[in-house]
Amino acid sequence: NFMKDDDVSQECENLISSLPSEKDFMGRNLYNYQGSWYYPSRLQAILNFQKDFKARDTDIILASFPKSGTTWLKALAFAVVHRNKYAPNLVSHPLLSNNPHNLVRFLELDLYVKDQRPDLEEIPSPKIFATHMPFQTLHETLRDSPCKVVYVCRNIKDVLVSRWHFRSKVRNELYSNYSLEDMVDEFIKGDYAFGPFDNQVLSYWKVSLVSSKPVLFMKYEEMIEKPEAQVMRLADFLGCSFTEEEKQSGMVEKILELCSFGNLSNLETNKTGTSAFGIAPHAFFRKGGVGDWKNHLSDDMARKLDEMVEKKLRGSGLKF
Ligand code: A3P
Repeated sequence: NFMKDDDVSQECENLISSLPSEKDFMGRNLYNYQGSWYYPSRLQAILNFQKDFKARDTDIILASFPKSGTTWLKALAFAVVHRNKYAPNLVSHPLLSNNPHNLVRFLELDLYVKDQRPDLEEIPSPKIFATHMPFQTLHETLRDSPCKVVYVCRNIKDVLVSRWHFRSKVRNELYSNYSLEDMVDEFIKGDYAFGPFDNQVLSYWKVSLVSSKPVLFMKYEEMIEKPEAQVMRLADFLGCSFTEEEKQSGMVEKILELCSFGNLSNLETNKTGTSAFGIAPHAFFRKGGVGDWKNHLSDDMARKLDEMVEKKLRGSGLKF
């Protein structure tokens, strides 16, 4: 029985006792597993996933660091992959009555938590899942499967500002004594849930460059700048390219309209509904777009983050 948030199995407890640990700003323990930091309940879910998930050949995994555009990518991938089953329109599409997090569920935040083992048969095929785990933590579990992975990354300063607002929306009582400066320091140090950011981004960037595993590396900024091209790239990668006929009939534009910030954020289901893992969906829609960090971060904070990312990504060929 896993009643409390941090109740974990004996196996997880044994693992935890062997892992490096750090305290977060509230004194809660974080543990470093395969290069990333987690609270115990998350580790339990990751172990459950690693033990029990069996990828089907057609599975699709959407991966991201939190606040990098996961909700948008979920909506787009769902709309693209299932467009023959559900025609993209503004009248009856499942995205109009279900928030994207209920249609594409998180492995370690939702499906595999506590002692849960999900019934994956309920998910329409090809099945789409999401995760915030770094690639090395998926690697063993997906090794023998040709399933596909799509990663979306976003500028760290916008990610940080988005995370800051998200936290104050969903967890205000916990974070009232925690300043934006504290979050910047945490990002520089790297020891926060799912961090460090740069490790995760690089884990997917590196596999996307080799052919051993199909990984598509996307950038939020490119999706904002050239949405049509990026959605076509996504469809090509997922093996369901848009036909000439579809392109001419405006299929790409219809999907983009359906999944747009303006459309999704104004839907009743995203304003008032609940998501599968207990966070009100409206928290996932704030402002959207590129560069809001300029309205929040001081020059000094921005410089520190830029220097850190520059140093960490040096030599990787990745820039943002
Ligand atoms: P901001 O806080 O900068 O507005 P995630 O989905 O990974 O949690 O990321 C959330 C960020 O994506 C938020 O950024 C949110 O507003 C933005 N977002 C959500 N839906 C979007 C959409 N359909 N198009 C573009 N951006 C979107």
